[in-house]
Amino acid sequence: MTAPRRRELERTGTEGARVPVRDALLGVSPYGAPQLDVPVRLNTNETAQPPPPGFLEEVGHRIRSLELNRYPDRPHHALRDALAARAGLTREQVWAANGSNEVLIQLLQAYGGPGRRALYVRPGYSMYPELCRTAVTEAVEVDLDEGFRLGPELAAAAVAEHDPHLVFVPSPNNPVGTPVEHDAIRALHDDSRALVVVDEAYIDFADPTASVLPLLGELPRLAVARTFSKAFRLAGLRLGYLLTHAWVVEDVQKVRLPYHLDAIKQVAGLVALEQEAAFLDHRAATASERERVRAVLRDRGDVEVFDSAANFLLFRTGVEDLFDRLLDLGVLVRDFSDKPRLAGCLRVTIGTPQENDAFLAALDAALADASLPVPRESS
Ligand SMILES: Cc1ncc(COP(=O)(O)O)c(C=O)c1O
Repeated sequence: MTAPRRRELERTGTEGARVPVRDALLGVSPYGAPQLDVPVRLNTNETAQPPPPGFLEEVGHRIRSLELNRYPDRPHHALRDALAARAGLTREQVWAANGSNEVLIQLLQAYGGPGRRALYVRPGYSMYPELCRTAVTEAVEVDLDEGFRLGPELAAAAVAEHDPHLVFVPSPNNPVGTPVEHDAIRALHDDSRALVVVDEAYIDFADPTASVLPLLGELPRLAVARTFSKAFRLAGLRLGYLLTHAWVVEDVQKVRLPYHLDAIKQVAGLVALEQEAAFLDHRAATASERERVRAVLRDRGDVEVFDSAANFLLFRTGVEDLFDRLLDLGVLVRDFSDKPRLAGCLRVTIGTPQENDAFLAALDAALADASLPVPRESS
């Protein structure tokens, strides 16, 4: 580079040389809940308790014998075998990636793309339309009914209207909290040609009968996505997986990056599965805390709170700036109040009993002067 050119660049910076981002990304902000340094963080549905004692020691011990100068086991057979054994499936039906978000984008890369459509339920996980945009796939939505339910009739009508190539259904639903009815999944499947992806990120909190995994034998285009980020207390690990039919796993391998799953993560996932009982032993306590918080909200009279089978609660009030008021009091929750169908709604993750008490006290204070009626849903 010539000296004048270097001086010019130092003066102007590289902004002027910016390559225009693709049209679909113009004006887009990176997705993500705020990561704020406040005393009580109840906004991203992690489990409050750290992994069980002994986990990090065991991972540390095992990774000492890894050959980190070599690439990891690309098809991550040991981890898939362990996941398959847990689910009663074969290795060929299992696939893991960096969080269930990566599993979802890989499915879109394999079955979406220009000229293809993905249908997602609304309210639902806010990443679905974002992932569709990234994967250049048209996103279409089906609105849950008044009670936030997707019945078989609604499901059948939605696939008939949109003829999607993929369908995304969170179960339990995030942010609503309730599991999907199996008959709605059957209808989405049987009345379409789509791969029906049921996103069971929170399934380990729910009644075991809620999972659609047993439908795999009945529905040849069903895929179930899961994660270690929620009940498995390993959000920092970034590990998710897919339980499905062998042909889906074959196709997903066509879009994965080589060696996408690092060796340390593969070992950590295996150790977590070996220690599953200890990892999941908080679930009864989490559920009882959820019901305790729900009862307090329900009994207030100025809050509408929804049922939940997960580790969070969706609730609605008539106070427009409640999110900010809670934040001022050191409690971070998730704000859905500007989302379609969710006017006035916030979502709170169930934390430790102390965190939940702090949330309830902050809510009490924040609502103290605002004895407004709970608004009816607006669209
Ligand atoms: C419904 C749902 N699916 C998927 C994810 C993504 O989880 P992961 O951390 O495995 O990428 C989340 C995270 O909040 C979620 O709520």
